[in-house]
Amino acid sequence: MEKFYITTAIAYTSKIPHIGNTYEAVLTDAIARYKRERGYDVYFLTGTDEHGEKIETEAKKNNRTPKEHVDIIAKEVQSIWDTMEVSYDQFIRTTDPKHEEVVKAIFKKFYDQGDIYKGYYEGHYCTHCESFYTDTQVENGHCPECGDPVQESKEEAYFFRLSKYQDWLLKYFEDHPEFISPESRKKEMINNFLKPGLKDLCVSRTSFDWGIPVEFDPGHVVYVWLDALTNYISAIDYKAEGESGELFKNLWPADLQVVGKDIIRFHTIYWPIFLHALGLELPKHIYGHPWVLANGGKMSKTIGNTLYAKDLVERFGLDRVRYVLLRDIPFADDGDLTPESIVTRTNMDLSNILGNLFNRTLAMSHKYFAGKVQKGSDFEAVDKELIKAFEAMKAEYEEDFDRYHVANALEDVIEFAKKCNKYIDDTTPWVLSKDPEKQERLKTVLYVLTECLRLLAILIRPFLPSTSKKMLDELQTKKTSYESATFGELEELTVLEPVVLFERLEAIEEEEEEKETFKPEITFDDFEKIDLRVCEVLSVEDHPKADRLYVLKVRVGKSERTVVSGIKAYYKKEELVGMKLVLVANLKPAKLRGVESFGMLIAEEYGEDVRMIEATLPSGSEIG
Ligand code: MSP
Repeated sequence: MEKFYITTAIAYTSKIPHIGNTYEAVLTDAIARYKRERGYDVYFLTGTDEHGEKIETEAKKNNRTPKEHVDIIAKEVQSIWDTMEVSYDQFIRTTDPKHEEVVKAIFKKFYDQGDIYKGYYEGHYCTHCESFYTDTQVENGHCPECGDPVQESKEEAYFFRLSKYQDWLLKYFEDHPEFISPESRKKEMINNFLKPGLKDLCVSRTSFDWGIPVEFDPGHVVYVWLDALTNYISAIDYKAEGESGELFKNLWPADLQVVGKDIIRFHTIYWPIFLHALGLELPKHIYGHPWVLANGGKMSKTIGNTLYAKDLVERFGLDRVRYVLLRDIPFADDGDLTPESIVTRTNMDLSNILGNLFNRTLAMSHKYFAGKVQKGSDFEAVDKELIKAFEAMKAEYEEDFDRYHVANALEDVIEFAKKCNKYIDDTTPWVLSKDPEKQERLKTVLYVLTECLRLLAILIRPFLPSTSKKMLDELQTKKTSYESATFGELEELTVLEPVVLFERLEAIEEEEEEKETFKPEITFDDFEKIDLRVCEVLSVEDHPKADRLYVLKVRVGKSERTVVSGIKAYYKKEELVGMKLVLVANLKPAKLRGVESFGMLIAEEYGEDVRMIEATLPSGSEIG
C-alpha cells in the first residue's frame, strides 16, 4: 500500500480556534478520507503550537501558568477536531517531551555545523505573529501580516543563515514546479521574498521564558517557528542524532502539508531550508489554502463576527457545517461563511437536491415494490445517458480531488444529484406505475435511481461521513467500498423506509431594527392646549448661578419676556441673538435657580447633540 503523509498547521494555544482554523482541519480531513478511499495508507498529523510570548501573556491574563493554559486550550482544540469528525492519526503538542528533545538536538546540530550563529536582533517585532519585520516590510508601524502595532526591539539572539541557502531554494522552486500551490502563492514567494534576498532568521529569544531552552546557552529559548515547524518530523520519531524511528523512515517526506495563506512563507522558505540543512528531503507539496471570511471581512473578536465550530454544530448539525466549509471556500480565493449562508446553502443543496432525491427514490420503491429493488427491462437511452454522466462526473471528481480542488469535487457530486432529480422528472415513475405493462420499466428506473444513491453516498463520504453512512444503511447495501463505486454493482436488495436526511431550515430573518418608543398617546384637545409661538432672541446673558443655563430676552409679537434655557453648551451667546426660535408660550412660569422663566424654547436632541428649532415666519406667529 502506498503511504500518504498529510499534515495541518498546528494551531496556536493562546485562544480557542475559530471556524477559520477549524476549516483547515476539516479540509485536510476531507483529503485524508479521500486518499483512504483510494487505497492509500494515510497518516494524518495535526496538533497544537504551544510556546511563545503571546501564550505566556494570555496565560497571565487568565491567572494560569503557561502549561495550565496550554493544557486547557490543547484539550479544547482536540475536542473541536473530534466534534468535527477530523480523522487524525496523531495529535502532537509542542510541549510533548519527545518534540522538545528533537528541537533541542536540531538547534545544537545547526549551531555545530555553522548554520546558526549568535548576534543581535534589531527590528520591528510583532507579538501576535511572533515575527520580526524589516523597515520595508512594516506598514506605518504595523505588522504587514496581522495589522497589529509592532515594537522596536533589540536583543541578543541566535540567527540562522538563510542567505546561504537562497540560491539553492530558488533552483529547487524552478526544478519542482509542483512544490507549491496555488501558483499565485509561489510567484509571491519568489518575487517578494527570495529575489529581494533572504535576511538571516532570528531563531532564539531572551525576552520571554515560555519556550524550549537552548541547552548550551540558558536564557535563550528557541524562537517559535523553528520549534513549531519541527513538529512535522518530531511527531514521527525523527532523530537529529542517531537513527530515526520506523514511522519517520516510512512516512518522510510528507506528501501534502496543508497550511493557511498567511503562513505559506514559513512553510515554503524557512521549512525547506531547515530540512535541507538537516540533509532531509522536502515535502512533496505545500498547499496554501485561502481564508474563511465573515461577510467578506476578516473574523475579528472586536467586530464580534467570530464564529466557533461547536456553536455552529450545535445550531445546524455537523454535516451542514462540514458541507458549507468544504463547498463554499474555493481552492484559491477566500470564501464566506455566515449562519445565513449555512441555511441557504444547505437548504438548497442538501435538503432540496440530495435529501429530496433520496427521499423520493426510497418512498417510490416502497410504494410500488414494498422496498424491493431489482433491475427490470433493459436500459433505455435516458438511463444510459445518466450512467455516462456518472462516469464523467467520477473522473472529474477524482481529478479535482487529486489536485486538492476540494470544493470543486463536492460540487461535482451535487451537480450529479441534480441530474438524478431531473431523471425522475423525465422518466415519470408515477405515470409508469399506472400502466401494468410498464412494471418492468418502473423496476429499472428505480434500480437506476437506487444505484445512483449508492454511488452518491460513496462519493460524498470524505465530506459528510455520517450522512454517507446513514444513506448506505438505509439502502441496506453491502457494496460500500470505493472500488465498488462503478455503475451496476448494486445487488438485489430491500431498502428501508425513507428518513429525512436534512430537514429544511427556517430562513434566518434579518434582525428587526430597534423600534422607536413614544410617550403615551394624547388627544388633539391635549395638543391644542399648547401655545407654540415664534419668538426672536433679543439678548443673551449667562445665568448668574448656573453654569449650563442662559437667560434670554425674547420678543413674541409685540411683547417681550425672559426665558431661561439650558443650551449654553451648544450655542455661543452671539450665535443666538437674532435667531427666530420656537417657544412654548403658555407654560406655567417657573423659577430656575432663582431666575423666573416665562416659557420654554424647544430644541431637537440626538444623542449628545442639541439644535434649536429655527422658525422662518415673523415673531409671534402661531405654530400648530
Ligand atoms: N501556530 C501557527 C502555525 C504553525 S505551523 C508549524 C499558526 N497557528 S494559528 O492558530 O494562527 O492558525 C492555524 C491555521 O489556521 C493556519 O494555517 C492559519 O493560516 C489558519 N487560519 C487562520 N485563520 C483562518 C481563517 N480565517 N480561515 C482559514 N484558515 C485560517 O498560524
